Amino acid sequence: MSNAQTDISQVLPDEALLDRGRAQSGLARADIAFAVNGAAVSVNVPPLRRLSQVLRDELQMTGTKVGCDAGDCGACTVLVDGDPVCACLMPAASVSGTAVTTVEGLANGRLSALQASFLAHGAAQCGICTPALLVAATALLDANPTPSETEVQDALGGILCRCTGYRKIIAAVMEASLQGADLDFRLPRSGHAIGSSPVRLDGVPKVTGDEKFGGDSFPTDALSVLVVRSPHYHASFTFGDLDGWARAHPGITGVFVAADIPGKNCFGVIGPFADQPALAEGFARFRGEAVALVAGEREAILDLDLSDFPVRWAELPHLLHPAEARADGAAWIHENRPANLLTSGFVERGDPDAALAGAAFTVSGAIDTSYVEHAYIEPEAGYAYLDGDTLVVVACTQAPYMDRDDTAKVLGLPVDKVRIVPTATGGGFGSKLDVSLQPLIGLVALKTGRPATLAYTRNESMMSTTKRHPSEMKATIGADADGLVTGMIFSGDFNTGAYASWGPTVANRVPVHASGPYATPNYRAEGRAIHTHGPISGAFRGFGVPQATIMQETLYDELAGKLGIDRLEFRLRNCLRNGSETVTGQRLESGVGIAECLEALRPHWARAEADADAFNNANRDRKRGVGVASCWYGCGNTSLPNPSTIRVGIAADGDVVLHQGAVDIGQGSNTVITQICADALGLPLERFRLKSADTAISPDAGKTSASRQTFVTGKAAERAGRALRDKILRFANVSEKASLQLDGAAIVIREGEATRRIDLASLDVDADGFVFGAEETYDPPTLPLDAKGQGKPYAVYGYGAQIAELEVDLKLGTVKLIKITAAHDVGKAINPLLVEGQIEGGIAQGIGMALMEEYIPGRTENLHDYLIPTIGDVPPIQTILVEVPDPEGPFGAKGLGEHVLIPTAPAILNAIRHATGVLITKVPATPTRIRAAIREKEARA
Ligand code: FES
Ligand code: FES
Repeated sequence: MSNAQTDISQVLPDEALLDRGRAQSGLARADIAFAVNGAAVSVNVPPLRRLSQVLRDELQMTGTKVGCDAGDCGACTVLVDGDPVCACLMPAASVSGTAVTTVEGLANGRLSALQASFLAHGAAQCGICTPALLVAATALLDANPTPSETEVQDALGGILCRCTGYRKIIAAVMEASLQGADLDFRLPRSGHAIGSSPVRLDGVPKVTGDEKFGGDSFPTDALSVLVVRSPHYHASFTFGDLDGWARAHPGITGVFVAADIPGKNCFGVIGPFADQPALAEGFARFRGEAVALVAGEREAILDLDLSDFPVRWAELPHLLHPAEARADGAAWIHENRPANLLTSGFVERGDPDAALAGAAFTVSGAIDTSYVEHAYIEPEAGYAYLDGDTLVVVACTQAPYMDRDDTAKVLGLPVDKVRIVPTATGGGFGSKLDVSLQPLIGLVALKTGRPATLAYTRNESMMSTTKRHPSEMKATIGADADGLVTGMIFSGDFNTGAYASWGPTVANRVPVHASGPYATPNYRAEGRAIHTHGPISGAFRGFGVPQATIMQETLYDELAGKLGIDRLEFRLRNCLRNGSETVTGQRLESGVGIAECLEALRPHWARAEADADAFNNANRDRKRGVGVASCWYGCGNTSLPNPSTIRVGIAADGDVVLHQGAVDIGQGSNTVITQICADALGLPLERFRLKSADTAISPDAGKTSASRQTFVTGKAAERAGRALRDKILRFANVSEKASLQLDGAAIVIREGEATRRIDLASLDVDADGFVFGAEETYDPPTLPLDAKGQGKPYAVYGYGAQIAELEVDLKLGTVKLIKITAAHDVGKAINPLLVEGQIEGGIAQGIGMALMEEYIPGRTENLHDYLIPTIGDVPPIQTILVEVPDPEGPFGAKGLGEHVLIPTAPAILNAIRHATGVLITKVPATPTRIRAAIREKEARA
C-alpha cells in the first residue's frame, strides 16, 4: 500500500457505483422469501438489493446476466409471475411471495422447444444475451405460440444483442412451435464435416444458462476490487492518506497505486509502441484512466461510497481533435512522439498526380466518422488467484497469450508464472484484444495472497476501453472516358486517443485497403494515427478499413454518375480479378471473388432499383434509395508473423482430443476449427473432445482478430489433422488411400479388402496423454512492405458486396431500412449457418455505424445514450454465399469476420444519396444531419 502525498478528496466519475453504494449503505437486512423456477428460496439481504445480484450472488444462479445495471440492455431479464422484468431494476423486496423464472428453469430434463430452436437456428453466438431472450420469448410463446415477426420484435425489443443481427433470433422464436424439443444433434459422418451446419459444439450451455462468462464463477472467498479512474481528459493528481482512508473503511483490505506495481508499468499490444500504464503515475491522459485500486471484502465493496477517496485532481489543458493535436505549438501528449503523431502508413504506386491530371473525370470528397463503441453486452470481468507461485487469471478475452505476456511484464513475473484461462467471452469485436483488468486483479492477488475479482460497470467499460478510430478523410479518384479508374489519392487522420493500442495497425492497414477491391494503377494513400486526450482507439472489426471504404465507395457512386454508368456496372468494370495487381504490387494469381459477388447481386440490383422507382413515382415526402458497396480485406496481420499452432491427438479411450486455442467469442471457432480438423484427419466430429484455450495447456493459436482464425488456425488444424492421419497410416503400414474408423477404444483401418484393428489401450501414452498425437503450426506467407508500401501484406483476401434498400422521410430525415442483400466470397463455407450468422451480425454493426452510433466521452458512457441497433432496426437480410476457393486457405476457406461489416455503411450512405440527392459527410447519418443536408440542398435549388 502506498503512502499519502496530499489529503483531499475528489468525487469519482463512476456514478453507477456511487448510486449503488448510496442505495445500499446502512440498510438493514431482511428475510425475503419467493420461488425460483418452482423451488422455494429465502434470502437475507438489504431489501433494495437488486434481484439480479440476489440471483447471481446469493443463489449462484448466474444464468441471469448483467450488462448495465440500468435497465438499458435487458440482459438481466427474468419472469416475475410470468411477466418479463429487468432484474437489475427490481429490488429484492419486490419479489417477496412471487414466482421468478430464470433461464435455468426453462429446460425440464430436456431442452425446451425454444431452446432447441435457438440452437437449430444458430441464434446464440457469444450467448451472453441468450438467457434474457429465451425467458422473454418463453413468456411470449406461452401467450401466443405462433407470433408474427412484429410480435416477436415487440416482445424482445428491450433486449440488446451485439453479435447476431437478430434475424436468427426472430426466426428461432417464430419457428419454435415447429421445432419440437428433439433437436437433431446428429453430427455429419466422417469426411462430411466441412460444408455442414451441425449444432455448434459449444451451443448447449449457451441456452441453458450454464455457460460461464467472466463474472460468473467468482470464488466466494475472493476480495472484490474497485478501480479509481480519472474524471478528466487530462489532469495531474496526488493522493492523500490512502492507508488512513482504508483503515477508516471496515472491510477494505488495501489500496494500490502505480508505486505498488512490481514490474514495468507499461503495456501495449504492439511491442515497440507499448505505452500504457496499468495505473497512471502522477497524471492521467484520458477520462477513465485507472489511477488506483481499492480491494476489500465483497459486502464492504458493494456498500462502499468512494466520494471521500483521497485523491486531488488538477485539471490540465486537453486536446480532443486531431487538428488541435497537430496544430503548431500543441503540447505533445507523449514526449517521444513529436507533434502527437503516433505513426503513419503509406502506399504509393505509379504516378497518381499525373493520372488524376489526365483523367477524363475526377471526383473529390471529404468524410468524417465518429468514435464507435464496441458495446459488447458483457463488460470486462474476471478473477485472479495464486496457484503456488503461478498467478492464474480467469477472465474474458480475445487474446490469452498476449494477456499473459503483458500481465507478466507489468507484474514483474516470468511469463511461465502467469497462466491465463479464458472464460466464455460475451462479445469482443476487437476491444478484448487489449488487456484491461488482468494486471489489476493480478496485482491485488499478488499483494494480498487472496483471490481478487473485478467486474467492470457499464460506465467504466465504456470510459476506459478502446473504440473504433474517428477519422477525417479526403480523397480524389479519376477515371478515363471508358469508365476505368486511372488514379486515386487518399489521406486520412485517425484519432488514436491517449495511447497506442492498435493505432499502428490502423495506420498501416488503411492505405493498403483504401482503393477498395478495384484495380487502381496509380495510387497514393496515407493513414496517420494521431494522439489526443480522447478515448483510446484500438481494434474494432476492420481496423480502419470500414471508415476508408466509406470514403472510397461514396466517391465511386459519384464517379459512376459523372460517367453515366450504372453504379454496379462501374464496380464490375473496375474490380480486381485473377491476375490483377493490387495497390501494393501484389499479383493475385487466383481466388479473387469480388466479380462473382457483384455478379450475384445483379438481379437484386435490378429489382431493387425498379422497386425504388415505382415507389418514388407514387410518393412525395418519402423517397426510396438503393446503394451498393464492396469490400476486400486481407486476413491476418499486415506483413508480420502471425502463426497459429494446433495440437490434436487420440487418447487411449478412442477420444480425439483437440487443443483448440483459438478463443471462440461467439463467431464459432470451436466448431469450425473442429470441422476442419475432422475432415483432414478423416474421423467423425462426434469423436472429438475440445480442450479450449488455456496458456498452460493449449498451444498458442494466436489472437481472435483480423479474420484470421478460420484461415490461419484453420490451416494449422488442417495440417495437424493430416499429420495425425499420416502418423496412424504409417503405423499401420498402409497407404494414404486407407480409411480410418474408431470403434470404441480401437481404431480400424481399411484399405481395399484389408482391415487392421489397433487396440489403442495397448499403445504407449505420450506426455500429452495421446497414443497418437500431432502438433502443427501455420504462419501465412507474407512479405514486408517497402518504403512505398509495395510488397505482399497478406496471403489471403476475402471479398464481398452488399446492396442496401431504404426509405427516407424527407421532412424528418429518418431512415427506414427495407432490406440488405449481401454476397460474400468466403472461399469455402466451412459451416454455412455460422457464416450467415457472421454476415448478419456484421451488417447490424454496419447499420449502427452508418445511422446511429456516435460515442461522445462524458455524454454517452452508457447504453441509454449510446444507441446500438435493436431488434427493430435490422431489416430482412438476404445472404448469398460465394465460394471462390483460395489455394492457401484450409479447404479453400478465407476469413470473413471483418469483411461482413465493411460494405454496409457505404451502401447505406449511397442509398440515402440515391433517395435524397445528398451525401452525408459526417457519419453517422442521423436524422438531424440528413434533414440539415436536405434543407441545404433545397436552399441551393
Ligand atoms: Fe439489467 Fe442491463 S443489466 S437491463
Ligand atoms: Fe447476443 Fe452475443 S449472442 S450479444
